[in-house]
Parts: sequence; structure tokens; C-alpha cells
Amino acid sequence: KCGKGEEHQCKDWWCLCKEHISAQSRLFLKGGRIVNDDHSFDADVYIEDGIIKQVGNNLVIPGGSRTIDARGKLIIPGGIDTHTHMQLPFMGTFAVDDFYSGTKAALAGGTTMIIDFVLDQKNVSLLEAYDKWRSWADGKVCCDYALHVGVTWWSDQVAKEMEVLCKEKGVNSFKVFLAYKDVFMLDDHEVYQTFMKCRELGAIGMVHAENGHLIAEKSQEMIDNGITGPEGHEMCRPEEVEAEATLRAITIAHQANCPLYVVHVMSKSAAKVVTAARRRGNVVFGEPIAASLGTDGTHYWNKCWRHGAGHVMGPPLRPDPSTPGYLMDLLANNDLQVTGTDNCTFNADQKALGKDDFRKIPNGVNGVEDRMSIIWEKGVACGKMDPCRFVAVTSTNAAKIFNIYPQKGRIAVGSDADIVVWDPKATRTISAKTHHQAVDFNIFEGMTCHGVPDYVITNGHVVLDEGQLRVTQGMGRYIPTPCNSEIAFSRIRERERTCQPCKVERDPYDGPVAKIDGNM
Ligand code: URP
Ligand code: ZN
Ligand code: ZN
Ligand code: ZN
Repeated sequence: KCGKGEEHQCKDWWCLCKEHISAQSRLFLKGGRIVNDDHSFDADVYIEDGIIKQVGNNLVIPGGSRTIDARGKLIIPGGIDTHTHMQLPFMGTFAVDDFYSGTKAALAGGTTMIIDFVLDQKNVSLLEAYDKWRSWADGKVCCDYALHVGVTWWSDQVAKEMEVLCKEKGVNSFKVFLAYKDVFMLDDHEVYQTFMKCRELGAIGMVHAENGHLIAEKSQEMIDNGITGPEGHEMCRPEEVEAEATLRAITIAHQANCPLYVVHVMSKSAAKVVTAARRRGNVVFGEPIAASLGTDGTHYWNKCWRHGAGHVMGPPLRPDPSTPGYLMDLLANNDLQVTGTDNCTFNADQKALGKDDFRKIPNGVNGVEDRMSIIWEKGVACGKMDPCRFVAVTSTNAAKIFNIYPQKGRIAVGSDADIVVWDPKATRTISAKTHHQAVDFNIFEGMTCHGVPDYVITNGHVVLDEGQLRVTQGMGRYIPTPCNSEIAFSRIRERERTCQPCKVERDPYDGPVAKIDGNM
């Protein structure tokens, strides 16, 4: 019986009263293979009250626990999607997947945490924007979530609010835009100030790296030449427009001695820039996304306008069809480290806002539900990465960078019970007809992937249970992300100490000084 008294009927499996929850949340995962980023081994897992309590063999389990047979399956940390935009107000409309449908879909695919972006207009208080996003998300999220904050303008107020966000609101990452001129874009000196502030606070600088000035010029040229369709979206922002901005952001971050996280790495050219910077010793992380790893930009030339528009996002997918494989190679070898999705979805009628002008097509694609399967298929099933690396790039590295490890990103005693029982051999075919997202289109339509979640457990609740998805709005929690993550800041702090500029002590110059001609 639950604690709500004799009258109370638990009609819903998820009754949130305390006794009920704990009775339901004694789970025993038996016979599986645990995969962490550094090690895999055969062991059982016992979960109580949302926390992993025991890992090992011959465990002593309290009566009344539910046993899940995990033989032949992998037990992996739930995925962390580092980059989503649920219900984002953008380009005159709102992304159609909100914090409910978006997180429900995430869970269906084996992702148990998302990190979304607070992203408001210039001159809007960052704190007010943060509160707005919390008010949208808290009542709707089905899985845990955290927030990055976009810095879309610069002032003393913004600097002060960044400090409050870090010290009181659990934010440790700020995104700047080098694109979206007149909307989100900052100038280089503002980006420098933002990254300086990040470094001071122990927060991670993030960048959307595309040259917004060039895009504005070249997209107008496309329209003037009569190219109004989705192919114009790619052609006005070719790879070097992304690569130049990536190098510029890396340079500015390096000058500010700030760790940099490059979101949505979409091209070989940008990935090479990130790779080269890491080889030089820069503290920079690269995030390819499900879209850039799973499909390509040839779709922009599709004869069907809706199909092309369905793939429009910024930076664009690349027409070079070897791009996804190339990015996957870099991800497998730690030249790139993390995967997100940039999930930001718009239905056909919303995309149609740009039917006569690609500049008005709302930018964004799906991914939150399919990321895990796409990366398993293109990464592990293709033999490019092993299951440990899969866990690293889908969960653990994100937890480390955003400083929530080992609460998240690890199967270990004391960690949150965000767990996926993963069937590496099963397959599923992706389709908008069967996906759980609200959007009416799927960029991975028809793709068959190995790697399917059998059970998904979030905070100790079995939410995907033998094919049944059972979630409740608001069952997820906001997870504060503390500043000064070790993986990002240990080298930064050493450099702060050792790499200070120092002046040369010398006698003052006492020779003649030329006179300035005031008339020149
Ligand atoms: O096309 C995109 N990427 N839409 C979402 C906003 C952003 O730039 O991340
Ligand atoms: Zn109850
Ligand atoms: Zn972006
Ligand atoms: Zn984004």
C-alpha cells in the first residue's frame, strides 16, 4: 500500500507517494554485461530509491524487488544529449517538440538526460530567461535535465548575471553565436569578454561557429540569383564559413584561457580545425551530432521541397557524403569527444514559412530519440568503436565536461540509476510514423540500426518496459551543473598560474623623443 491512506487508489503506476515509489523502485538487473567508458564486466546491479546500491555478483537482494533478466544484454549509463532546443522560440515560431514530447522521445531511445539551451533575444535579462526556461521545463520533463545559457548580448549586467547563474542557479556553460547576424551574433570583442568571464567563473565557453556576416552577404546573393530553395542554405555557408569561425572561436578562447566546447561540428573542415587545436594543446572539445554522424547534405538537392527543408539546420549538413564516416572516425579516436543532437524540430507548415526564401526556413532537425541507435550503428556495428567508447561519447564524457560525473555517466555504487539495458543485436527501422517525437518528419527515415534499448530506467523508474513507454510529465529533475569541471579546468588553472605575462625589468630610456607634428 502506498502512504496516501486506505481511500487512495494507485491507478497510475507512477504514483509519486514516497512508500509507493520505494516499493516500486527496488530493481535487480541480473546477468548483464556492465559497460562503463573505461571497462566492461559481467555483474548484476541492484537499485533502490533511484540510486545504484550494489554492483557485483552474488548480491544479497531485499525481498519484493523486481528482477529484470539482462542476459545477453549490455547495461550502460543512460545517454546524455548535450544539445537540445525543446520548444525554442525561433525564426517566428516555436520548436514543436516541447519538454514533454522531447524528453519522452529521449527516453524511448535510451537518453536519460538532456542539456537544453536558455536562448533569448538581445537585451533580455539572462536571469529572467533562465527562469522562463525553468518554468517551461520543470512541469514537463520526463527525464533529468540541465541548462546551458546563450549569451546573445554583452554588458556589465550580463557579466553579473552570468555570475549569479553559476553561483546560485547551477549553470556552468555559456554559448555564444558567431552566426545569426542581428539576432544572436556577438562581435569578437564581446566573445572575448564572455570567454574571459567564463574562465573567471570556471564555466565552459561554447560556440556556434559560422561567419554570420558572410552568411548574410552570400545568402542575399543566392536569392538575387534566383536560388530560393534549401540548396541555397548550404551553398551560402560552405564548409570554410564554418571552419573560419571555428578557428576564430578557438583563438579567442585560447587568448582568454577559457575551455571551449564547439557545438554541432558539421563538416570535415571544422573537425580538422578542432583536431589541430587539440594537438597544439588547446583545451577544446568537439561535439558532432546525430545528424552530422548519421546523414548528409545531399538531401538539400532533393526534388521534394519539404524533404530538403526538413534537413535545414545551421551549420548545414554537408553534401560530401563521406562526412559522417569521417566525423565518426574522429569521434572514435578522441579527436572529437561528445555527441548531442541539436534537436530543434519544426513541422511541415512551419518549415513552409521559407517556401519562397530559404532564409526563412526555421533551422533545426530531430535527433534526440535516435542518437543512441545512430551512433551504435555507425560507430560500433561498423567496427569503428567499442562499447566502452560508445558509452564515453554518448554519456560519460558529457557528464565529465559538465561536471556531473559520477552522479551521471557511470554504472557504479552511488550513481543515479539512469540505466539502459541495451540489446546490441536487435534492430529497429527509424520512421516518423513510429517515432515518439511530435515532429512530422525524421531525417533518418528508413534507416535500420542495430542497438535497441530493451529497458530504460530513469532515476530508478522503468520507463521503457518491454516495449511500453510509461512516463509522466514533470517526473524529471533539474540537475545543477557545478563550475570548474576537472576535465576542462585543471589545465586552465595550471596555465593561469604559470603563463602570466611578465615585464622585462630595464633602466628607463633617457635619450631624445621625437616631437609629434600636431598638423599631420
Ligand atoms: O539549426 C539549428 N542549429 N537550430 C537551433 C539553433 C542552433 O543554432 O543551435
Ligand atoms: Zn500510491
Ligand atoms: Zn547553434
Ligand atoms: Zn543548437
